Amino acid sequence: MKTTIAEVRNYVGQEVTIGAWLANKRSSGKIAFLQLRDGTGFIQGVVEKAQVSEDVFQLAKRMTQESSLYVTGIVREDARSPFGYELSVTNLQLIHEAVDYPITPKEHGVEFLMDHRHLWLRSKRQHAIMKIRNEVIRATYEFFNNNGFVKVDPPILTGSAPEGTTELFHTKYFDEDAYLSQSGQLYMEAAAMALGKVFSFGPTFRAEKSKTRRHLIEFWMVEPEMAFYEFEDNLKVQEEYVSYIVQSVLKNCQLELKTLGRDTTKLENVKPPFARITYDEAIQLLHDKGFDDIEWGDDFGAPHETAIAESFDKPVFITHYPTTLKPFYMQPDPNRPEVVLCADLIAPEGYGEIIGGSERIHDYDLLKQRLEEHNLSLDAYKWYLELRQYGSVPHSGFGLGLERTIAWICGVEHVRETIPFPRLLNRLYP
Ligand code: 4AD
Ligand code: MG
Repeated sequence: MKTTIAEVRNYVGQEVTIGAWLANKRSSGKIAFLQLRDGTGFIQGVVEKAQVSEDVFQLAKRMTQESSLYVTGIVREDARSPFGYELSVTNLQLIHEAVDYPITPKEHGVEFLMDHRHLWLRSKRQHAIMKIRNEVIRATYEFFNNNGFVKVDPPILTGSAPEGTTELFHTKYFDEDAYLSQSGQLYMEAAAMALGKVFSFGPTFRAEKSKTRRHLIEFWMVEPEMAFYEFEDNLKVQEEYVSYIVQSVLKNCQLELKTLGRDTTKLENVKPPFARITYDEAIQLLHDKGFDDIEWGDDFGAPHETAIAESFDKPVFITHYPTTLKPFYMQPDPNRPEVVLCADLIAPEGYGEIIGGSERIHDYDLLKQRLEEHNLSLDAYKWYLELRQYGSVPHSGFGLGLERTIAWICGVEHVRETIPFPRLLNRLYP
């Protein structure tokens, strides 16, 4: 019976054949232990000299790391294996012999691993992170579909810049100028006026010269946008959504979290409601913690966000930032126009801002004024302004950075490990 490692539980006591790679191996005179992987999981194959032909035993002993093979064996339950099963091998058939696989079980430097990302992905740790990434994406679609949202796909090639003009990737679009999307938000606002509650999931691009553990040049964003939702409604969706993906990973990725050595007690806590503090309170909190330099009107850096998050055991919303710190489209607080009805969601444990969101300006004149203040072309934003001319309604939305969220859930230090092929300041290979 041809099957996969994930399916062997259905064949205990039976003989199965699996296409696999040899991840690692130990052998002595009479026995060889093959660590096998096939993408669906990991399993140990035990080859006993007395149970197989001499050719098969010799093959087991000389087979090199990452060689590919068909392995046939009887499935046994094995309490010692993290996976719960092992294979008593009856036959091995080499498909392709790997020579000098560069990533050995010893430690390698980060740059070396990044240069070999196409192979590094095969490691147990990277496999676990990619499985968790997949679960976060799966749970995202499930959450929004269960809650009446429609998936809408905004364009990647755009003629305008929602988050400001300094971080745009420029390209030619025949005779016109175009930019790679840094956020689908403006298009999602149009979609919300057509479909009510919408969400997008796609790649976004920022030509940021930031070289930190939180910044990618190309990253994936989940962007919901909801008609008739005001500031507080927006925060409710966010805390429910973030809790949903964390609880889904806890439920469906126990093995992967264990592989990563993640302390899951901190994740179990992640349920609504999340704390909310205003920007003003955050400044006060920072002063209390000895950050004397920061003043009202300054943006928070990574150390500030980390210090604020330390006071909470779940993600925390920082609300009502100064208008001057945020993009043109955010709705000013009617009682206090120097701040906007926005919130950043800060993850615990130093992972920083995972969501940025706000209520959007829905008044035509105010939006036009804000575009002018930001020196943005009224021509380029004509269509966006028109959304405020035909049945304009209060609406809100947010963007969740997938890789930062995964870094936090997995407990990995740097976002570069949370995306299959990271695009970083100095890296476009492989
Ligand atoms: O705060 P940002 O810039 O917000 C927006 O783009 C809004 N238009 C979203 C919206 O309201 N629809 O980005 C949103 C999130 C951040 O909180 C962060 O998690 C992530 O995107 N992000 C990055 N992740 C990795 N690398 C970068 N360079 C990132 N820049 C932002
Ligand atoms: Mg932001």
